[in-house]
Amino acid sequence: MTVTRSMSGKTVLITGGTGGIGRAAAVALASMGARVGITGRDRARAEDSAARIRADSGNRAVDVFVADMSSQAEVRRLADAVLREYPRLDVLLNNVGGFWAHRHLTTDGLEHTFALNHLAPFLLTSLLLERLKTSAPARVVTVSSNAQSMGRIDFADLMGDRTYSGQQAYNQSKLANVMFTYELAKRLEGTGVTATVLHPGVTSTSFGAEDTARGWGALIAVMRPFMKTPEQGAETSVYLASSPEAEGLTGKYFSDRAPRKTQKASYDAATTARLWQVSADLVGLSPPARAAL
Ligand SMILES: NC(=O)c1ccc[n+]([C@@H]2O[C@H](COP(=O)([O-])OP(=O)(O)OC[C@H]3O[C@@H](n4cnc5c(N)ncnc54)[C@H](OP(=O)(O)O)[C@@H]3O)[C@@H](O)[C@H]2O)c1
Repeated sequence: MTVTRSMSGKTVLITGGTGGIGRAAAVALASMGARVGITGRDRARAEDSAARIRADSGNRAVDVFVADMSSQAEVRRLADAVLREYPRLDVLLNNVGGFWAHRHLTTDGLEHTFALNHLAPFLLTSLLLERLKTSAPARVVTVSSNAQSMGRIDFADLMGDRTYSGQQAYNQSKLANVMFTYELAKRLEGTGVTATVLHPGVTSTSFGAEDTARGWGALIAVMRPFMKTPEQGAETSVYLASSPEAEGLTGKYFSDRAPRKTQKASYDAATTARLWQVSADLVGLSPPARAAL
């Protein structure tokens, strides 16, 4: 991976930094000198990952935050811990996400894919936004997927109560990542905080392994030799988080470090505003937090 910039003095929070694309991004950004916070669900696994990130990057400034981000109470606790530990936050990399073949409910009674892939970054970003603004220039980078192009926000059945397909739920959540970013960029105009979103490329990680569809293992085995390595999959995240070229870029979707168009519906201002409002209601944003956006 090309080192494009010294990140000394910068603080970066990466959700889902214990494995896959997030861990590779953590190594790259720590190698550039950033203080890097990673999140994961399990303390021992997260501490072990942090130790390996320190060894691989030669940077001791790697911190662990433990949270199951499918739970809104845990996202709130995570935000409180980050605000306590980090007086400044230069980059928030919303990386955590996954695919579940079957429908699961979170502790909040919400469909897991929508809750983890979309509502968790929505809530975490909202709760950290003032800290990002006071650290400006700062960046919010969100990992989506080209699956956004097949997504549809089904306002009548957001949680897949009536019909659930793992693929549709994933596509919807990844389109929601894009629309969230476009709306966030608008709301952040003039603050010095940018919002970008990206497709990492098909990458060999543990993606989808928690709840596999029939035939998934065989499909992955066939595709694995053609997939990106985690380091390659992290390149666009790292570029948007650190590159001087990306300074000031906002409200755009990237793949292979280049801006790309997303599906037509993603640019519909009324739909992005509606999704924002529905998401704010679902995460119970208090009026002061909402006023910050
Ligand atoms: N891999 C691909 O081909 C591909 C393609 C397009 C987009 N993406 C996107 O890239 C992002 C990263 O995916 P990946 O492939 O690196 O996946 P991965 O290897 O499965 O890693 C997922 C990360 O998320 C964390 N995580 C999972 N559930 C969590 C939860 N409930 N609370 C907190 N953390 C949780 C995991 O940490 P712990 O298990 O330690 O908690 C791990 O660090 C996702 O947003 C995905 O949608 C991936």
